[in-house]
Amino acid sequence: MTSPIALTGASGFIGRSLVQRLTEGGHSVRVLLRRPDAELEALGVDSLQGSLDDAASLRRLVEGARAVVHCAGAIRARRRSDFTAVNVAGTARLVSVAAESQARPRVLLMSSLAAREPAVSPYAASKRGGEEALFREARGLEHLCLRLPAVYGPGDRATLALFRQLNRGLAVLPAPLDNRFSLLYIQDLVGLVERLLQKKAWPGTTVEVDDGRSGGYAWRQLPEIAAQQLDRRVRAVSVPPALLWGTATASEAVSALLGLAPIWTRGKLREFLHADWVSRRDGAVDLEGWRPETQLQQGLAPTIAWYRRAGWL
Ligand SMILES: NC(=O)c1ccc[n+]([C@@H]2O[C@H](COP(=O)([O-])OP(=O)(O)OC[C@H]3O[C@@H](n4cnc5c(N)ncnc54)[C@H](OP(=O)(O)O)[C@@H]3O)[C@@H](O)[C@H]2O)c1
Repeated sequence: MTSPIALTGASGFIGRSLVQRLTEGGHSVRVLLRRPDAELEALGVDSLQGSLDDAASLRRLVEGARAVVHCAGAIRARRRSDFTAVNVAGTARLVSVAAESQARPRVLLMSSLAAREPAVSPYAASKRGGEEALFREARGLEHLCLRLPAVYGPGDRATLALFRQLNRGLAVLPAPLDNRFSLLYIQDLVGLVERLLQKKAWPGTTVEVDDGRSGGYAWRQLPEIAAQQLDRRVRAVSVPPALLWGTATASEAVSALLGLAPIWTRGKLREFLHADWVSRRDGAVDLEGWRPETQLQQGLAPTIAWYRRAGWL
């Protein structure tokens, strides 16, 4: 039996897809879960109960592992300190435990293009902090940090609202239509991770990835792409920022009253108002010949079809 690949965040969008790919590929996978998950168990993983807050569970996770893929993260939180606790302190704890372990597994961090602009939002700052924690705590461990653009595809709840709108034929966008961003289809991402796990050495650096579309997408291009794929008319309107600030402030206030972690916040709005979330690929970093295969023209229809089958649309 080969030593396992240890995974955090297996119950999330990216982690779950990755577990599926790795188990299908015959890899032995160990996951850290905060709650039991029958779907993951059915894939034959070795599951451990624990969390990023609990160093003892992290020690069990990395024991004898050959690699750690750190997919856990907070993408919404009630306050800045909650983002920091998971994305910075949790990453630091995991990497430190891995560095102190006998196995000394290599560590792959799922970071975000948001880390490029830490002043934009508490989330962005926490993703940068997580990267810094990786580099600080690795102490000779092989490591790599992937800065992801928006990842989409079957199983994603974060982009569901956008796909729902495109499917209805009217997208009401919280961003200026010329703002640009990169995308990555989930199956291409998990294919990349699988390749990286076979790579001899990781370069201990940060690499930005995307679906290969040079210059990314402008929001105004989305309706045209959706219209071609869905064979219907699709329009997009951009909501004026003044109105958006009001809705974000209201969403934060209502969530605070209900004790919930809001997804729509002033920080999230500042992320949408930022003009450039296009990946800058550093050709010098060898990704084992990885070539993404799916741009939005190919990824949109299967994503919508999956949402329909799952009853999410
Ligand atoms: N999806 C994207 O478009 C995208 C883009 C850029 C970067 N990323 C990064 O990629 C990572 C995964 O994103 P995702 O979309 O898969 O997010 P997700 O669906 O929200 O999943 C987050 C995962 O993290 C786990 N988690 C959160 N706090 C934890 C803690 N304290 N201890 C242990 N596990 C914890 C969650 O477990 P529970 O199920 O127990 O809550 C869940 O498995 C995140 O770090 C995110 O910042 C994602």
